[in-house]
Amino acid sequence: MSETIRTERLAALYADAVSAAENSYSPYSKFRVGAALLLTNGQVVTGTNVENVSYGLSICSERSAIARAVAEHGPGMRIAAIAIANLNGAASTPCGACRQVIAEFADADTPVLFPAADGVRTFALDQIFPLAFEADLKK
Ligand code: THU
Repeated sequence: MSETIRTERLAALYADAVSAAENSYSPYSKFRVGAALLLTNGQVVTGTNVENVSYGLSICSERSAIARAVAEHGPGMRIAAIAIANLNGAASTPCGACRQVIAEFADADTPVLFPAADGVRTFALDQIFPLAFEADLKK
């Protein structure tokens, strides 16, 4: 069970995601996305989407933030909250691939913020990613 994070802290994390989207490399979709992770150690790590002319090689903001967080904080890093934002004024939930990767480093009740049709919403990870694939393969 994760610790409850104050609403103001989550709002600041969302603002960090908006700032991260400014660096988006998205010349093909022009969809500028940013993600901000609040780690359990209190640090914030951001990421943005990085596209490629070979479209399938593009990486979403969430996964770029997670790769950066592991690089900077090591394999034990854990996500206390994640915010995703875009500069396109679009409602946008994290894609399925990103939900699986978030689940690797987060708990069922970890807050996930994103812009929905009615404004920024916060869901527990297991609300948007129920029945996650989990296998005990870390031997
Ligand atoms: N994208 C993200 O960065 N995160 C998401 O959760 C959904 C999609 C990116 C991938 C691609 O660069 C662009 O948005 C359009 O799909």
